[in-house]
Amino acid sequence: MIENLVDRFGRIHNNLRISVTDRCNLRCTYCMPEDVTFVDRGELLTFEEIAQFVRVAAPLGVNKIRLTGGEPLMRKGLDNLVRMLTPIPGITDIGLTTNGLLLADQAESLFAAGLRRLNVSLDTLDPGRFRELTRRDGVEKVIAGLLAAKAVGFGPIKVNAVAIRGFIEHDAVPLAQFCRKYGFELRFIEYMPIGAESWEREKVVYAHELLEWLERDVAPLSPSPDYDPRAPAMDFDYADGKGRVGIIASLSRPFCRSCNRIRITADGKLRNCLFALNETDVKPMLRRPIPDTVALRNALIDSVAEKWEGHEINTAKFVKPLRTMHTIGG
Ligand code: 5AD
Ligand code: SF4
Repeated sequence: MIENLVDRFGRIHNNLRISVTDRCNLRCTYCMPEDVTFVDRGELLTFEEIAQFVRVAAPLGVNKIRLTGGEPLMRKGLDNLVRMLTPIPGITDIGLTTNGLLLADQAESLFAAGLRRLNVSLDTLDPGRFRELTRRDGVEKVIAGLLAAKAVGFGPIKVNAVAIRGFIEHDAVPLAQFCRKYGFELRFIEYMPIGAESWEREKVVYAHELLEWLERDVAPLSPSPDYDPRAPAMDFDYADGKGRVGIIASLSRPFCRSCNRIRITADGKLRNCLFALNETDVKPMLRRPIPDTVALRNALIDSVAEKWEGHEINTAKFVKPLRTMHTIGG
């Protein structure tokens, strides 16, 4: 029998985000500093430890998994992890969020391992702005990765763009046109106060502005028929039927009330919120000759039981977590 991970606010947690590494081959300014100390490789959960964690979480109602980083494709043999997770009873959905740099090389092996859902982070098609935002080159590699993934058969493929003032004004429309052309679903994410850079509210571009630009310069939009007011992304369809756009409006339309997510960091810390200030170290429970499944189960149940109502970004109560985004994975 499934005993759900239900919190004090009645939210059922079925969605687990697993960060497989804190390393990254980009240095997006909004996410991480240029000089970072990465977790020692020996401190990362092994694939077996991750699979063991999922084997405990699945009977508690976790059925959706997303692999994140850092950059998850920097973790060697990630397709092997996918192969270990897909057969776990109860797991119905596995997705990957990647910056796409290594995707062209790995698309085939990941697809062969059973992965189908992909989110590729790409904030601009312009090489100069790509370098400014990510402190590295490589936009053409990301595009090649997207096209390779499409050719191999991945779907849906979503493109995530963080909406930061000073950048996204130039990129929203070209990104939308690019995504329409190739059948990718573009998703804007309102810029959140987490990560490396000093965040300012003035830098946030809100959902309504993005929608105005797209309607003016791309095509009219209407809320999708399967628009789910509880889902993080608000989905809109182009009136001409050519594609869909989502907006993750964490600030202008917080979706904490229907949050179904828990997270585990690459070094085995369980987090009940992206913005959580406390975490539970489950690695000692996993890193034993025989994993302590009872303790793991209780850690999951207790973490969810302690979950707060929401991130409070829009109130004076908000406290920015110490972790930067690359150690959580969004
Ligand atoms: N605000 C919004 N989105 C962010 N991401 C990283 N940092 C931030 C931030 N401060 C996004 C990445 C990636 C996803 C995992 O989170 O671009 O698409
Ligand atoms: Fe790397 Fe993603 Fe952070 Fe950019 S946002 S530095 S791609 S982990």
